[in-house]
This record gives sequence, C-alpha cells and structure tokens, in this order.
Amino acid sequence: MNTRRLILTGGSGFLGQALAKFFNSKGWEVVVLTRHPNPSSSEAREVIWDGETLGSWTDELEGATAVVNLAGRSVDCRYTATNRRLIMGSRVKPTRVLGEAMAHCVNPPAVWLNASSATIYRHTFDEPWDEDGRDFSPTPAVGDEFSLEVIRAWEGALNEAAVPRTRVLALRTTMVLGHARNSVFPVLSRLARLGLGGRMGSGKQWVSWIHVEDFCRAVEWLMVHDEICGPVNVAAPHPLSNADMMRLFRKLVDMPIGLPATEWMLEVGAFVLRTETELILKSRRVVPGKLLASGFAFNHPTFQEAITHLQHNLP
Ligand SMILES: NC(=O)c1ccc[n+]([C@@H]2O[C@H](COP(=O)([O-])OP(=O)(O)OC[C@H]3O[C@@H](n4cnc5c(N)ncnc54)[C@H](OP(=O)(O)O)[C@@H]3O)[C@@H](O)[C@H]2O)c1
Repeated sequence: MNTRRLILTGGSGFLGQALAKFFNSKGWEVVVLTRHPNPSSSEAREVIWDGETLGSWTDELEGATAVVNLAGRSVDCRYTATNRRLIMGSRVKPTRVLGEAMAHCVNPPAVWLNASSATIYRHTFDEPWDEDGRDFSPTPAVGDEFSLEVIRAWEGALNEAAVPRTRVLALRTTMVLGHARNSVFPVLSRLARLGLGGRMGSGKQWVSWIHVEDFCRAVEWLMVHDEICGPVNVAAPHPLSNADMMRLFRKLVDMPIGLPATEWMLEVGAFVLRTETELILKSRRVVPGKLLASGFAFNHPTFQEAITHLQHNLP
C-alpha cells in the first residue's frame, strides 16, 4: 500500500506539531515545510521554504495526499504597523504561493486545508454562527477591524487559487486548548491559580473553543470526507460565556476566588503584555455546522470535560 503523505506548511508551531504527531502515529509520512528546520524533529521530515517564492520545496507536493497550511505570524501582539504587515503577509503570501505551486503540479494533492479563523463572524450575543453565516462586519467597540481584514484577504487568496483538481477547505478554527507553552489552557490555569481567574470585561462574551485532540481528529475527518469543501467551523459544539469559562478554570485548580478584570484593567494589561484586548473581548459564538451534519463525534464536547482531560494528561 502507498504511504499517505501529508505536507504541513507552518508545521513547526502548536497546531502543526500536534498534527505531525497525530498523523505520524497513524503511519502517514509527514513533511513539514519550515523557514527554520529543527534537526531533532522525529515526527516529520523537514524541508525549507520561505513561504513566499517557488523553489525545490514544490516537489514535495507532487502526489501528496493532503496539504495543511498553518503558516501565520502569531496574532498575540500589539497591532503596530510592522506587526500588521507581518500578520497579513505571513498568511496571504504562503497561501498564494501554495496555490501557485499546486497549479503547476502534474499530480496535485487531493485535498488542501488552509488555516483561517472563526473570528471571521460578527461579534455576537445572539444566535450562534454556523458556516451559513455571512455577516463578517466588524465591531469597532471590540477592535476587530484589522482581524477581519486579514481573514478576508487570507480566505480570498485561497479562493483565488486555480486548483480545480484539489478539494479546498478553509479551517475556521476557534481557540484551541492544548498544552503548548503560553497557549490558552496553561495561561488561564495559571491565572486562576493566582486568584486572578475572574470574569473578563462583562464576562458575557461567548467563547468558542476546541480540544487539540478533536482538532486533529476533525482535520483527519475532513480529509476523508470528499463531500465537504469550502469553509468549515472547527469548533466544539458547546461554546460558553467568558464568565462560565473562568468559573470552570477556578473549579479546575480549586481556587474559590478570582479577581474580575474590568475593560480598562484589560486595556492596561494588554498594553503591558504587548497584546490586544480583542482576543478576550470579542464575542465568538461559533458552532461546527458541517462537522456535526457529516456525523463527526467529538471526544471532548464540553469545556469542563476538555480542561479536566488536559489537566489529567499533563505532558
Ligand atoms: N492556535 C489556535 O488556537 C488557532 C486558532 C485559530 C486559528 N489559528 C491559526 O492556525 C495557524 C497555526 O496556529 P498555531 O497556533 O500553530 O501557530 P504558531 O504556533 O504560531 O505556528 C505558526 C507557524 O507559522 C509559521 N510562520 C510564521 N510566520 C511566517 C511567515 N512569515 N511565513 C511563513 N511561515 C510563517 C511558523 O513556522 P516556521 O517558523 O517553521 O516557518 C510557525 O510555526 C495560524 O495561522 C493561526 O492564525 C490558530
């Protein structure tokens, strides 16, 4: 039997490493396209690319089973002019050059899953958004104008790719819960342990999320379900409010008190930590319409179960 080959671009980060481990354990050949190879990587073969220009890396795409493009500079920073340029360019350029490379393939990959974000949907306290949602308008009060501009350009570059023989999906992923350093689960657990795990802002904003194990399983599911294409919400089925999320973190670490953070405290904190309050204050009520309709079963459907699982399985 031919080995299935997965190409992971931007695969050296949090989600890429999780996918490399997951697919490697299932017998796939995993190839990570990276700007900075790490010779100690054992789960994947690493190949250099620059995310901008065609080169010998394009040979890896010939006959590949699937491509997952995760390249993108972290958005956890201040949106200065330089960072805006880097955030935008690091998503749009790799997507464009991948499309160009696939268009030249004799035997192109069967499926291309490109990272996107569930932040694309309008800030909402109303009904949840599934993939039928078309309201991508910004809400200046939460400062999401730039993020929406980036996601539109990112998905735009994907939609412009001339790859008629490849099935194309945009992964509108929500906040992923895993053990990666400085990611949401360890950071909020630490805050809760310090007695700082109170609600953030009004606490009413919705939080959509997914356990990293279900993220990997969903990617595998989408690869084999040929009937699914276009945007896909990669989210657990039960979003919750920020106040409920913080309550569950306090419960997890057995801390009875949690200092709430008002919006001005968050503004000061975000300035000091060089990040943006949008990441906390935007209300994201996003649900996995296509995954559920196709029969995907989540291993970790509720937030409480997901963080308890992570806590009991620390690396
Ligand atoms: N983690 C989440 O909760 C989440 C949620 C929604 C969407 N997403 C999206 O999913 C993608 C992966 O997330 P992640 O958490 O794994 O991010 P990550 O840990 O920051 O990894 C992103 C990868 O992108 C590559 N990269 C950075 N700047 C680049 C550039 N200028 N050109 C080409 N590649 C560049 C880096 O690879 P090299 O340095 O090896 O080249 C890095 O390993 C991102 O696009 C992110 O926006 C993540």
